[in-house]
Amino acid sequence: MKFFVDTADINEVKEAKELGLADGVTTNPTLIRKTGRDFKTVISEIADLVDGPVNAEVVSTETDAIIAEGKELASWAPNVTVKIPVTGKGLKAVKILESEGIRTTVTLIFSATQALLAAKAGASFICPFVGRLDDIASSGMDLIAEIMDLLSNYPGLHTELIVASIRTPGHVLESALLGAHGVTVPLSVIQKLAHHPLTDSGIECFLNDWKKVQSDSRK
Ligand code: E4P
Repeated sequence: MKFFVDTADINEVKEAKELGLADGVTTNPTLIRKTGRDFKTVISEIADLVDGPVNAEVVSTETDAIIAEGKELASWAPNVTVKIPVTGKGLKAVKILESEGIRTTVTLIFSATQALLAAKAGASFICPFVGRLDDIASSGMDLIAEIMDLLSNYPGLHTELIVASIRTPGHVLESALLGAHGVTVPLSVIQKLAHHPLTDSGIECFLNDWKKVQSDSRK
């Protein structure tokens, strides 16, 4: 299972990398804005640090402009993957960029039919957003189950499903149980994945007992 880190903050990418959880990186215009830094500089630094795909999102909305912008983004580093929102014009651009050897991620997917069209267009990755569906009292994980079923019916579709808009450790667990190819996870959620209160209290108990072993041996 691939773990991408969902951030444009270079320090967060470093931390995820040290944990072995930076198989790739996803950014979007909101995450770039949060850094307050130059887009190209941020993407180039991250692409230098991480071996896997580093997603840089286009802001153009017309096919030709998306293609031109995608080519520019892809020229920044060999591992830059062009992130394109799932629109008809975007899907046309995906088909052309992929045919020219430029990897794409189709983003802002909220339905299984959108995922199917993105896979048919040849997208290397598709990113359905689970958290934003949960936010409107829909079920993000039901969508992932549906897309995984659909992809398993057609092994000729080579896209990888990377679950996005992850808000909780439960989203990561359910994605793994459904066999999603990967997840893109904010560092704050990655940190929660390792945490368990019984681990904390267990360590505290062992350390206290070890101190007692040492004081007993001095008697
Ligand atoms: C990553 O590809 C997405 O842009 C990101 O996961 C969206 O997350 P959000 O819904 O928490 O903004």
